[in-house]
Amino acid sequence: MDYQQTIHWSVDNVGEKTFQAAVAEAGALLREGKLVAFPTETVYGLGADARSDAAVASVFQAKGRPSDNPLIVHVADKQDAALAAAAITETAEKLMDAFWPGALTIILPHNGTLSTKVTAGLSTVGIRLPDHPAARAVIRASGCPIAAPSANRSGRPSPTRAMHVAEDLDGRIAGILDGGPTGVGLESTVIDCTVEPPLILRPGGVTSAEIEAVIGTVDVDPALSEEEQPRSPGMKYRHYAPEAPLTLLDGTTAFMHEQIRASRERGERVGVILTKDLAGESGADREYVLPAGDTETVARELYHALRTFKETEVDQIFMQVIKGEDLGFAVMNRLVKAAGGRVLTENRTF
Ligand code: TXA
Ligand code: MG
Repeated sequence: MDYQQTIHWSVDNVGEKTFQAAVAEAGALLREGKLVAFPTETVYGLGADARSDAAVASVFQAKGRPSDNPLIVHVADKQDAALAAAAITETAEKLMDAFWPGALTIILPHNGTLSTKVTAGLSTVGIRLPDHPAARAVIRASGCPIAAPSANRSGRPSPTRAMHVAEDLDGRIAGILDGGPTGVGLESTVIDCTVEPPLILRPGGVTSAEIEAVIGTVDVDPALSEEEQPRSPGMKYRHYAPEAPLTLLDGTTAFMHEQIRASRERGERVGVILTKDLAGESGADREYVLPAGDTETVARELYHALRTFKETEVDQIFMQVIKGEDLGFAVMNRLVKAAGGRVLTENRTF
């Protein structure tokens, strides 16, 4: 892959002239088939013209992504869903009205105008209208439907700050729009509206309870909680992996302290992700302190936390499991993947 100088623009402030200039330049690059990363409310995306085979091929190349994993098409306005979908069903329309712009990707039959690399040869396409002014402005400026996976190297934690994108993709893409840390911190919920009842393929920023309140019963892909082949091609790959192995701990604080001590006794340098109330007394070599323990905060901070532990500094990372439904279910889905399934459960006798 040829090295290219990556342009960095700051788009913190919608009102500033620099915002308009950056968005216009980035939009023009996208229209030329170049790759530009931009912030969304979930994670940073790596954008390309969804109609161009060459542009989409370079997304897969820059990320090192397997070609059977389809990309989500991002649009700037609700009516632009028709640029990708063959037809908008009544259910899809209701979901768009309720959750767009927002963290919900809706799978519909595609209309045949996109690069087949976007859809990985499937008959369907995932579409999303992101809730971020820089994302919508750059998509609008490009004049294209924009295919955008998370802007990380394949297998790494998704980027929630521009510096994460730069870490993974500087020199491989044309530009990065820096809009500061993203709000939700986890990727969008993916819902398949080509089946009845609709099926959640990936839990995310919008919860199943919120969706059910709008369209009634939805199913959740059983593979999300059981050992089955997932229906969303991307869910089967190794994901979100930090540089050192992560082990999840299901038990008391005392159990966590015990695991940290045992690991250090094995000669390992230990990192731990924990909340403020437990900071300073874990016994770990390095602590990442979450400012609060609520699920929203954990979701927002998780990928940054995972990325702060460098393999040169720690050999093992621990984190306690997150209990809870809804967003908690989405956080646990990412954590278990990041941990490659390693969960240690405390043997408790009462
Ligand atoms: O929040 C997000 O969704 C972020 C931001 C950038 O929008 N994007 C994102 O894209 O997470 P990516 O490529 O990292 O994940 C897309 C997921 C994958 O699991 C993929 O397999 C699934 O969506 N997907 C995309 N199109 C699909 C389709 N037609 N059918 C089933 N699954 C699909
Ligand atoms: Mg991704």
